[in-house]
Formats: sequence, structure tokens, C-alpha cells
Amino acid sequence: MAKVHVVANQKGGVGKTTVTVNLAAVTANVLGGDHGDSPVLVVSTDPQASSVWWADRVGTENLPFDFNQFDGDPGQLSKLRDYEQWKHIFVDTPGSLEDEHILTAALTGADDVIVPMLPEPLAFDPTARTIAHVLEPRGIPYRVVINAWDPRDGEADLEETRKYIAAKGWPCANVVVRRYKVHTRAAADGRVVTQYPKNRTSMEAREDFFRLALELGYGGR
Ligand SMILES: Nc1ncnc2c1ncn2[C@@H]1O[C@H](COP(=O)(O)OP(=O)(O)OP(=O)(O)O)[C@@H](O)[C@H]1O
Ligand SMILES: [Mg+2]
Repeated sequence: MAKVHVVANQKGGVGKTTVTVNLAAVTANVLGGDHGDSPVLVVSTDPQASSVWWADRVGTENLPFDFNQFDGDPGQLSKLRDYEQWKHIFVDTPGSLEDEHILTAALTGADDVIVPMLPEPLAFDPTARTIAHVLEPRGIPYRVVINAWDPRDGEADLEETRKYIAAKGWPCANVVVRRYKVHTRAAADGRVVTQYPKNRTSMEAREDFFRLALELGYGGR
């Protein structure tokens, strides 16, 4: 049986797609296999397929994991874990309130949920809504991941974000994904972290996703 990890936050642009494809990439890198024969599958449920940045630009056959664009009956999402050929399935979901039915359909088949969130104290409310109205009532285990923190901005916003999360009682990953231009550029180039050039900055950027996958326990067979 596959473990199904749904990546969700109804706030747009917090890094759901970035976190989905890069966690999938590092997990696939550790577990072995390649596109077409990978233990890792990414499912995009975003109804605007054009927002699946890399799929449009490079074609999914260049991805180091298997990929499906979901565009059918949302009921099928509840059966993802029955697939024997994948060990981990990462489900990217839309960042909008209008598409809540797609998110809730994805959650029916979820083992756990990853909630990326930006360290921007003025933008917390939509995340709180997703957790309080969508995740907690369903009793699905979830974990917040702080994404796109820029160390050059200092620790203040990060600390405030951590305090807010602690006050809410939300489980939160210890690993923070830093903001790197190479991630933003990679989205435009259709590249995932394991395909980054081997320079120091790219390796540092990549390391955050390996550390996060290690914390979340995705590396075991
Ligand atoms: N850690 C990061 N460092 C640099 N850029 C990032 C990082 N995370 C995300 N981005 C950039 O921020 C933008 C939004 O990220 P992404 O598309 O992953 O968010 P999303 O939550 O999937 O958005 P939507 O709700 O529209 O689907 C993209 O341009 C992406 O490249
Ligand atoms: Mg997205």
C-alpha cells in the first residue's frame, strides 16, 4: 500500500507545488528508480493544468518520479493508497477556496497532510482557516512546514511565525525551507532540486528538501 501525502493550503502561492515536487524528487532519489518505474508518484489535482509549471515546459517524462494530472472523478482520489506500485504518493492541491471540493476529495484518501506556510505574519489567516475548517474536523494528521524563509531578512518573522504556530497548537516541522532564487528559477525551467546544477548555493537549497524528507521519514523502504 502507498502512503498518500496531501500538500494543502487554501492560500495561493505558499509553495504547495514547490514542496510537492521537491519532496517527491528527493524521496525518489533516495529510494531509487526513475520516471516510468518509480516508487514515487506525484498527482496534481489543480484544475488549471497550466498552473502545473514544469509539466508544460519540459514535459513530465523529464521528471525523476511518476506523474499524473488528475482531471476525472474526485472519488478516485480516495483509492490512491490501494496502488501497489508506489511507496509514496504526493498530492498537490489547488490554492483557492472555490476548489475546496477537490481538496476534500483528496483528503478522503490521505494518510497525512503537509501544510506549507510563509513566514509572513500578515498572511496567516487563510492557513488557519484551512487547518481549523478543513483538516482538524476530519482528524487527519497534518504538519505545518514553514517555506521560503529568507535568512537575510533576519529571524524576527520566523520567530513570530513559530510563536503563532505554537500558540495555535499546530504540529510544525523543525526543518524550515529557505527562500532561494534557484527554486523560483527552477519553477520557470521545469526543474526539480535533484536536477539542480552542482554549485554551492544549489546544494544548500536542495539540502532543505533532503532534511525535510528525513524529518518526515520518507526514506525507508
Ligand atoms: N522556498 C522557495 N524559494 C524560492 N521561491 C519559492 C520557494 N517556494 C516557492 N517559491 C516560488 O513561489 C511561487 C509560488 O510557489 P508555488 O507555485 O509552489 O505555490 P503554490 O502554493 O503551489 O501556489 P498555488 O496556490 O497558486 O498553486 C513560485 O514562483 C515558486 O517558484
Ligand atoms: Mg500550486
